[in-house]
Amino acid sequence: MIQVLFVCLGNICRSPMAEAVMRDLVKKKRLSNKIGVDSAATSSWHIGEPPHKGTQDKLREYGISTKGMQGRQLQNADFDNFDYIIGMDESNIRNIRTILGNPSSPKIFRFLDLTDHRKDVPDPYYTGNFQETYDLVLEGCHALLEKIILEQRL
Ligand code: 4NP
Repeated sequence: MIQVLFVCLGNICRSPMAEAVMRDLVKKKRLSNKIGVDSAATSSWHIGEPPHKGTQDKLREYGISTKGMQGRQLQNADFDNFDYIIGMDESNIRNIRTILGNPSSPKIFRFLDLTDHRKDVPDPYYTGNFQETYDLVLEGCHALLEKIILEQRL
């Protein structure tokens, strides 16, 4: 099983959105038995909490459920347990690397570097714009799925 982990600061807005969108794409491609998807926070602020209402509402608009999703914090063991560890922004990448003990690994990268945007995913916790974030997350997930299919010969 290929394991994918999305990481952001709080694990209530951007990374759970990416997790749910990616799981939906994987399911539609009939790859759920090959690709697992999870998300985590670099902070401990929202452990055990469901996704932010803005993320829940936006996903529901697109027919994607967030049922049962709960915030958790990134932990050291995640480095061994995941094949792709994806930060939503540059500060997430720095924090991921610190928490994981500063590994130098191509499996850690910034999400939108897979797209032509090559920028941070704007944080709707601050911008209030969940649509902008959803559109970028969807584009990033398509690019990520393509990368995984190629690299893993699925
Ligand atoms: P996220 O957004 O990292 O996309 O989940 C945030 C969520 C919560 C906070 C900041 C950003 N906060 O300060 O609690």
